[in-house]
Amino acid sequence: MIRVGVIGVGLQGQTHLKCYKALSEVEVAAIADVNEERLREVGDRYCIPGRYTDYREMLEKERLDAVSVVTPDPLHRDPVMACAQAKVHILCEKPLATTVEDAEAMVRAARSAGVKLMVNFSNRWMSYMAMTKKAIEDGELGEPLYAYARLSNTIYVPTGMLKAWASRTKLPFWLMSHTVDRVRWLFGGKAVRVYSVARSKVLKGMGIDTPDFYAALVEFDNGIVGNFESCWVLPDTRPSIVDSKMELVFTKGNVSIDAQQTMIQKATESSYTVPGTLFADIYGRPVGFVAEAIRHFVECVREDKEPWASGEDGLEVVRTCAAIVESAEAGRPVELP
Ligand SMILES: NC(=O)c1ccc[n+]([C@@H]2O[C@H](COP(=O)([O-])OP(=O)(O)OC[C@H]3O[C@@H](n4cnc5c(N)ncnc54)[C@H](O)[C@@H]3O)[C@@H](O)[C@H]2O)c1
Repeated sequence: MIRVGVIGVGLQGQTHLKCYKALSEVEVAAIADVNEERLREVGDRYCIPGRYTDYREMLEKERLDAVSVVTPDPLHRDPVMACAQAKVHILCEKPLATTVEDAEAMVRAARSAGVKLMVNFSNRWMSYMAMTKKAIEDGELGEPLYAYARLSNTIYVPTGMLKAWASRTKLPFWLMSHTVDRVRWLFGGKAVRVYSVARSKVLKGMGIDTPDFYAALVEFDNGIVGNFESCWVLPDTRPSIVDSKMELVFTKGNVSIDAQQTMIQKATESSYTVPGTLFADIYGRPVGFVAEAIRHFVECVREDKEPWASGEDGLEVVRTCAAIVESAEAGRPVELP
């Protein structure tokens, strides 16, 4: 059995719990959250014996093999450093960090402690990503040339779901970390030059000091160009909180992905929604991309393998996303070392 702990049991932390609980080789031994009420509620709901308001105490008292770090975007560093020091394997949520300095320190700490550090780039386990990756590897499409990736949310996300900390992250970290990783994963290459723009109007007017949208062009050292777009102010009347599209252009082909087309359309007397099917509860069992990413992490721990989405991948994505923020703030292109 692999004994697991989860630090941060908000929305995504509970998804980690559900996915771990579905694996027979995993025992979820403990959880940690600074919110005492949530700690109690979630602990009761998932029958977790160990509950801590201080993750350091959890790491000291429990004999854990692995820990998920699922705290808000800017708060991954300290728990990851503490896990490395306690010599437990780490699954850290994306983005690895919101500064390059934090990400570098985290990768260094995990490497020198000899523990695995996987970043939860769960999108790699979406069925359409896996099929595209295989088509590229099989040579069906030729050489990659250009990628357009849109990943946006309705305004509910920064004003409701993430109200407590939306102003402490930015779209490049919250959303583009996924799309930048998707393009790196499919096309390879290292970002060398970034030009981006952002505007602050709607959210700033509501007292949430983070830009409404970013549009970024990224040049990679293998010649490919990525065009990334993320927006946080789409109206709540949209039938899904996520708007995700990709256009991939190759020398001998093209792949178009519209995430909305993978969903079901549900109309009731009071609403019209298109609930996602890429990650779903199938008769009480979590199935889909997040469950697969977590299963991959557990398999890497059990079989002592290097995770596909490593700390180094996470660091490279943070470098690109930090450059997107810097370019938009400075109003000029940013070169990456
Ligand atoms: N991979 C994905 O597809 C995916 C999806 C959603 C969220 N995420 C990531 O997961 C992370 C968490 O997002 P969320 O939506 O669950 O946020 P959330 O606000 O719902 O939950 C965060 C939890 O962390 C707790 N917390 C804060 N500081 C803490 C500390 N020092 N020690 C212990 N607990 C602490 C909070 O009390 C809260 O319960 C973010 O980094 C986010 O980007 C990833």
